[in-house]
Amino acid sequence: MHPFELRTERLVLSAPMLGDAEAIREHCQDPVLSRYIPAITQPYTLEKAHEFIAFTEQGWASGEELTWGIRARGEFVGVISLRRVTADDIGFWLGAKHRGHGYMPEAVHAVLDWAFDPANPLRVGSVGWECLTGNLASASVARKCGFTFEGEGSGRRPDASGEHPLSWRGRIGAGDSRDPKPGWPRA
Ligand SMILES: CC(C)(COP(=O)(O)OP(=O)(O)OC[C@H]1O[C@@H](n2cnc3c(N)ncnc32)[C@H](O)[C@@H]1OP(=O)(O)O)[C@@H](O)C(=O)NCCC(=O)NCCS
Repeated sequence: MHPFELRTERLVLSAPMLGDAEAIREHCQDPVLSRYIPAITQPYTLEKAHEFIAFTEQGWASGEELTWGIRARGEFVGVISLRRVTADDIGFWLGAKHRGHGYMPEAVHAVLDWAFDPANPLRVGSVGWECLTGNLASASVARKCGFTFEGEGSGRRPDASGEHPLSWRGRIGAGDSRDPKPGWPRA
């Protein structure tokens, strides 16, 4: 599949490129990212950033995982992906200094708009979300985008030690409203 762009009021979402490697390396020094995203291990080197970009290229080529770099005013601020291998899961992260501006809900809405577009031959019926239990910032994004909280269970994806850590889950269907639903864990 050929990578394509999505645009929102403030953001451009486009496939990560080699020129993004240094920004990715820099963002991924953040221990919060390593805490919540098992694939981001320390030390996070430029080589790991290159491996990540190569991984995203494979994902686009196979169509199994569509990953966009999120760009605000031309700056690479984070990543969002739609994994199509198992259950059409969405995953995301932002560099620390770019959090708290509502960028991620804006990016998630754009990906959902594409994923649920009736004119899209690759449209899906629903999109899942999952985070490690206690990741309230991630849960807040899913709540604000209209996902329904499905509770806690062992995560679908294994962590670095092969365990399936306790995780919160949510899901949104193509016909669901994007209004926040009750029942979400809050701070
Ligand atoms: C989860 C994440 C992508 C949210 O993106 P965002 O664009 O900052 O989202 P929002 O601006 O809507 O803020 C979401 C929540 O983050 C928290 N937050 C707000 N400002 C913040 C800041 N400066 N730094 C950290 N967290 C902040 C708040 O709890 C907020 O919830 P609220 O709006 O109900 O108060 C971002 O916090 C992140 O990258 N976290 C680390 C990686 C991660 O956990 N990814 C998800 C893995 S499942």
